[in-house]
Amino acid sequence: MNVDTKTKLSRTTIFLHWLLAIMVMVMLAVGVIMAEAEIYSLYPWHKSFGQLIFLIVLVQAVRRLKNGWPEPVSTYSHVERVLARSVHYLLLVGVLLMPVFGFLMSALGGNGVAFFGLQLVARNPDPANLSKVIPLNGPLAELMLAAHGILGYLLILAVVLHILGAFKHHLIDKDGTLRRMLGDKV
Ligand code: HEM
Ligand code: HEM
Repeated sequence: MNVDTKTKLSRTTIFLHWLLAIMVMVMLAVGVIMAEAEIYSLYPWHKSFGQLIFLIVLVQAVRRLKNGWPEPVSTYSHVERVLARSVHYLLLVGVLLMPVFGFLMSALGGNGVAFFGLQLVARNPDPANLSKVIPLNGPLAELMLAAHGILGYLLILAVVLHILGAFKHHLIDKDGTLRRMLGDKV
């Protein structure tokens, strides 16, 4: 059956988890590298994959709203449960918000947004200097840029904590948390 139980996670949960995990970790790394090194050729790819992630994470968010979170495989301290749950929320909600902030930043900044070549919001070039753009709403675009940056670093922190947690379960508690996410019945 395609539902999560305490001993086994559904194929959909496992597939969506690893698909999003890989895409989000690559996007976080590419985002930081392209922004720091000003590699503008990567921007259209970053924007397109970011929007694709939004569509995938929407599915996962609706599933979590409907079915709740998978039950922990064992019993843990209150602090540990709250920490794990908070990080899961931050990951899910953060990954939903990142593309929204990114989209608004690019659209309102006048840089335009395309989805794998399909233009969604046109660039707004400056007639006096066509290599430059005129923002549609400069202050709001700046706010979205800051939000995208800050949330990006928060997400990197959340992913690190999340991976440390997964390995703590596997190596210290020696429970089935990680194996269950890899498809095992525990
Ligand atoms: C190497 C990287 C990763 C490992 C080893 C890993 C491992 C795990 C494990 C073992 C669980 C199950 C926790 C439990 O049963 O309570 C889990 C759940 C979860 N992980 Fe990851 N994860 C990784 C990366 C990510 C990334 C990058 C994201 C963000 C998109 C993410 C989002 C989530 C969420 C939201 C859950 C809650 C369960 C669900 O909604 O399916 N994980 N992860
Ligand atoms: C889950 C999806 C996304 C993730 C994880 C992500 C992550 C990041 C990160 C970590 C940065 C570097 C921030 C910094 O160093 O200040 C970045 C930069 C950027 N992102 Fe995203 N992003 C996502 C989606 C999007 C989308 C959908 C768009 C636009 C449609 C977008 C547009 C940009 C742009 C234009 C920059 C460069 C900003 C600059 O030049 O300073 N991102 N992204």
